[in-house]
Amino acid sequence: MPSLLFEQGARGRGGDFVASEGRPDEFLDSSLLRDELPLPDLAEIEVARHFTTLSHRNFAVDLNFYPLGSCTMKYNPKLNEAVSGFPGFTDLHPFAPDEGAQGALQLLWQMERSLASLFGMNAFSLMPAAGAHGEITAMLMAKRYFAQRSEGGRDTCIVPDTAHGTNPASAAMVGYRVLSVPSTSRGRTDVEALKKVLDGRIAVCMMTNPNTLGLFEDEIMEMTQAVHDAGGLMYYDGANANAIVGLCRPGDMGFDLMHLNLHKTFSVPHGGGGPGSGPVGASSELTRYLPKPMVAKRADGGFFLQHDMPDSIGAVRAFWTHFLAIVRAYAYVIVHGEEGLKRNSLLAVLNANYLRAKVKDLLTVPYDDFCRHEFVCSAESLKRETGVRALDLAKGLLDAGVHAPTMYWPHVVAECLMIEPTETETRATLDSFAESLRALVATAYEDPQSMARLPMHTAVRRVDEARVGRLANKGVGLRWSPDGSTAE
Ligand SMILES: Cc1ncc(COP(=O)(O)O)c(C=O)c1O
Repeated sequence: MPSLLFEQGARGRGGDFVASEGRPDEFLDSSLLRDELPLPDLAEIEVARHFTTLSHRNFAVDLNFYPLGSCTMKYNPKLNEAVSGFPGFTDLHPFAPDEGAQGALQLLWQMERSLASLFGMNAFSLMPAAGAHGEITAMLMAKRYFAQRSEGGRDTCIVPDTAHGTNPASAAMVGYRVLSVPSTSRGRTDVEALKKVLDGRIAVCMMTNPNTLGLFEDEIMEMTQAVHDAGGLMYYDGANANAIVGLCRPGDMGFDLMHLNLHKTFSVPHGGGGPGSGPVGASSELTRYLPKPMVAKRADGGFFLQHDMPDSIGAVRAFWTHFLAIVRAYAYVIVHGEEGLKRNSLLAVLNANYLRAKVKDLLTVPYDDFCRHEFVCSAESLKRETGVRALDLAKGLLDAGVHAPTMYWPHVVAECLMIEPTETETRATLDSFAESLRALVATAYEDPQSMARLPMHTAVRRVDEARVGRLANKGVGLRWSPDGSTAE
């Protein structure tokens, strides 16, 4: 069968490639050709059963409660899937000329405008493929901004001690020196400590708000003012935006750059469920450094890919975006509308506070303050009194059919469990989670040794974590057996 291949030479929309008809073996070296796959001839029902069985081997939001703090494992509406499967979207070729892709370009443009308005930024690039990719994109923009201002001596990035690990990693990857600032006993960034490190070497301050303890940085305006006074830029890690959409905007808090995780806040699947998307927003001063191309609107109302952006940092990936991730996120935006998105944020906050109130007599809640979309609790006193660790509780929750909360992070809380219920969970689910935790804490006091044997009912039991860690450091992969034993 003839297939479409791309020949180098003439200029197509994607650069130096144009589509041409032909058989693969006419164009490719034989070493690059694949053998025909011996696909079995099966009835549709057999295929459906095969894939449904496979899907049930994985833990998924569609199967049970998934309170993985910081990861915002929210429900992925089936409507999003239906819309993203429209042939007009799935059959679109990435090199289609602008005129043949007007609907797709319009959708991208409308999504970009919606994000700009929801987060108070001047413009967004939809190009970055994940949150960390958004961070690194924004750090490259900051570098370019300072280079153009002949302020290349600004070589330092400030990161609070509660930040997600990707923040210091992204800053370091673009060559910034990373300076950590501590948090206070209230679980907020220490403003005085921040002010002390502000000098002519500061390029960017990366902040997450609400922070990784699930707490709103209530002195954010003072912090942005101080960083700006020192000539630095404020970067907003918007991975926690599920708590704030429709309620407040990073642009109004004074942020110059930000990223979002559409695969969290905007209900796009992630965690094995699909590719992510980490749009980057910029203030009007920084918009010209955004990756290119951007979708722009013509005077006649049509849309085109704007490649002519001389100050842009350039493309940060192949093709323009994870298009179907944007389609899903856009479906989420238009189904809920501004009021609905605000309501979702309020429900996420309500659910987190409800659960915090339910578990605080079981485990210590070190920053027992009104939280946003998530909260952290500590099993430190439980460990002291019984020897049972946060890890044992997390393993026990697996037997209750619940995905374990995020463990041992942020580092500022010992024996930490970070719980994020999200907005779609019912009160009955939250009550049942609290009851499972209550039963595990009771077992910890009555029969602590038995906790080391949990989980009892999962396909894979405990793994030898020390061995896994040692081998992972050496880059060796492992296979797990149901009894928890491992083979290289
Ligand atoms: C606060 C925060 N920032 C950044 C990231 C990185 O996002 P991604 O995993 O899409 O790279 C995460 C992911 O968990 C996060 O929670």
